[in-house]
Amino acid sequence: MLATHLADIPLPATMEAAAQARALRDAGHDVISLTLGEPDFPTPPHVIEAAHRAALAGETKYPPINGTQALIAAVQAKFRRDSNLVYETNEVIVGHGAKQIIYDALVATLDPGCEVIVPVPYWNAYPLVTRMASATPIFLRCAAADDFLPHPEEIAAAITARTRWLVLNFPNNPSGAVCPAGHLARIAEIMRVHPHVWIMSDDMYEHLIHVGSANATMAAVAPDLKDRILTVSGVSKTYAMTGWRVGYAGGPARLIAAMSKVQGQSTGGVSPVGQAAAVAALNGPQDIVAEMRAAYAARSAIVAAAMDAIPGVRCAAPRGAFYVFPDISGLLPMTSPGGVTLTSDAEFCAALLTEAHVAAVQGAAFGMRGHVRLSTAASPAALAEACRRIALFCEANTAKQGPISIFG
Ligand SMILES: Cc1ncc(COP(=O)(O)O)c(C=O)c1O
Repeated sequence: MLATHLADIPLPATMEAAAQARALRDAGHDVISLTLGEPDFPTPPHVIEAAHRAALAGETKYPPINGTQALIAAVQAKFRRDSNLVYETNEVIVGHGAKQIIYDALVATLDPGCEVIVPVPYWNAYPLVTRMASATPIFLRCAAADDFLPHPEEIAAAITARTRWLVLNFPNNPSGAVCPAGHLARIAEIMRVHPHVWIMSDDMYEHLIHVGSANATMAAVAPDLKDRILTVSGVSKTYAMTGWRVGYAGGPARLIAAMSKVQGQSTGGVSPVGQAAAVAALNGPQDIVAEMRAAYAARSAIVAAAMDAIPGVRCAAPRGAFYVFPDISGLLPMTSPGGVTLTSDAEFCAALLTEAHVAAVQGAAFGMRGHVRLSTAASPAALAEACRRIALFCEANTAKQGPISIFG
């Protein structure tokens, strides 16, 4: 008695991997979990205080579907400040995390048979929500050698009369790729001749760019396409607020109105207490963001170098977000230290967890087999120990070369 379209929709792979890590830890093992895309920093105190004040002041009633006036104004100001983008009040929506924003957008626009172009590797909500809407994800593989960027010509070749969305996510989860404005401009040229296609710019990690300055976003690079672009972001990653569940987007009023219908019939508006917290985060001091960014950048560089030093593993330093995405295909097939034959990234992650007690997520969950994703949103000590354990685990395969020194 379950819906047929749910039959091959899994739970989010990252959450499954995190649950397995937790179960092993609860059984008494010293597990290092690098599974979730979750900042290890606490939510800033001024944000928590704002939520407390809001609750005491009685902001505990049903909120408007699209967001409180205060948060919509803060989001408008944020778009102006960071990207020079002007959105009117009816061009902004607040959801239960950017995840719901993406769900709203796809469910509001997809009919059965529609296609959504998803560059690979991807955050797995894009293809899975597409399939939940009885539409078809069309995958475009992006090579590490191309900095994990989609080729504009390949986007052009993938567009059909059925295409409804092109999804762009930079900095990228899981690759950490950052898309230069010039490359976005080349993609915009393609999109100009296909006016039936929406563009989703998922900028969740916009403030977590390790090198260089501001994030380039499509609506700013190609203002003439702005009425077909949904610019998505949220407070989860930037302000260490994953549990508050507040995301937002700017887009054309007709799309926002359709998304509002989906949200209105599903969750309704976001908790006003959480929205008050998000207002404090967006309008408050931003120096905390720079501190977290610097920490993620340093950790990601160290972990990427440690992975790259393992024979059979290739790993470029990511340019943004807080993940590293090593290519382990050169190790496979391999025999784990415990004597298990490993032929895939999924088997590698399973054995890494049970034998070395390090939890990572298989690349297959992001559409790219032969890779694993490690979150660097963990303490430097935990990351150093995880790298040591991974190197030892892989060393069993490279047979008797002696211990691999990863931290000099
Ligand atoms: C690329 C990307 N977009 C959106 C989200 C959703 O974040 P949230 O729902 O916490 O706002 C995530 C979370 O992992 C993500 O990685």
